[in-house]
Amino acid sequence: MPEPHEDPDVVSRRIARESLSQDDPTGWFDRLYAAAEDGAAVVPWDRGTAHPMLIEWVDESHPDGTGKTALIVGAGTGWDAELIADLGYETTAFDISPTAVQTARRNHPDSKAQYVTADLLAPPAEWHRAYDLVVEIYTVQALPIDLQPAAIKQVGEQVAPDGTLLVIAASRPDDVPDSEVEGPPWPLTRAAIQSFSTPDLRLIQLDQSPSPVDPTILRWRAEYLRD
Ligand SMILES: C[S@@+](CC[C@H](N)C(=O)[O-])C[C@H]1O[C@@H](n2cnc3c(N)ncnc32)[C@H](O)[C@@H]1O
Repeated sequence: MPEPHEDPDVVSRRIARESLSQDDPTGWFDRLYAAAEDGAAVVPWDRGTAHPMLIEWVDESHPDGTGKTALIVGAGTGWDAELIADLGYETTAFDISPTAVQTARRNHPDSKAQYVTADLLAPPAEWHRAYDLVVEIYTVQALPIDLQPAAIKQVGEQVAPDGTLLVIAASRPDDVPDSEVEGPPWPLTRAAIQSFSTPDLRLIQLDQSPSPVDPTILRWRAEYLRD
């Protein structure tokens, strides 16, 4: 339980550390969202708006979601899902945290998106290759490095033929060894970004840009296309 008047940032970090030290790499997300509901913690990634790099991609690509489906991975409180649903995509947004899903539904009572609880590491079979657009922002990097290859594989598996995958992630130089990364998060190397691609899911665009908040942090924006 948080101490009275404890700094919400400190509480957030402590909740993550406790779960990870108990070998429970995903349990902390729901505890964090629940503590945030009570005002005892902050959800550090909750921007109250869609991710600026997703907005940028939409502005550049002008995707038309009419008659298409979209899957938002680790959707948190729903801001990215709302942007995509408003483009006409029949949007499914999922998160492992039931409290995040409840918060997203409450934040967006008139939403056209469907918010569901699911685990990226064991997704429903009917999602397999079912989505014309899959959006993954900061979920893989929130998982310890040993879980990332399985998570990356599952992200790609949900992209339909002719579908697009968009990945936005913090970037880590390739020469920084795994053992030196004190997550969460565990930012993605170029090799990790390249590993989303398979023989029929091709990386078609890769950009790296500094965060406007902290220019020492670089972020990937990667787009893949399924043949
Ligand atoms: C760093 S947050 C990013 C949230 C959102 N994508 C954003 O950019 O604001 C990671 C999110 O992924 C969710 N998450 C973590 N592991 C997951 C898993 N295995 N399956 C589904 N969601 C997961 C967390 O609950 C959290 O909402």
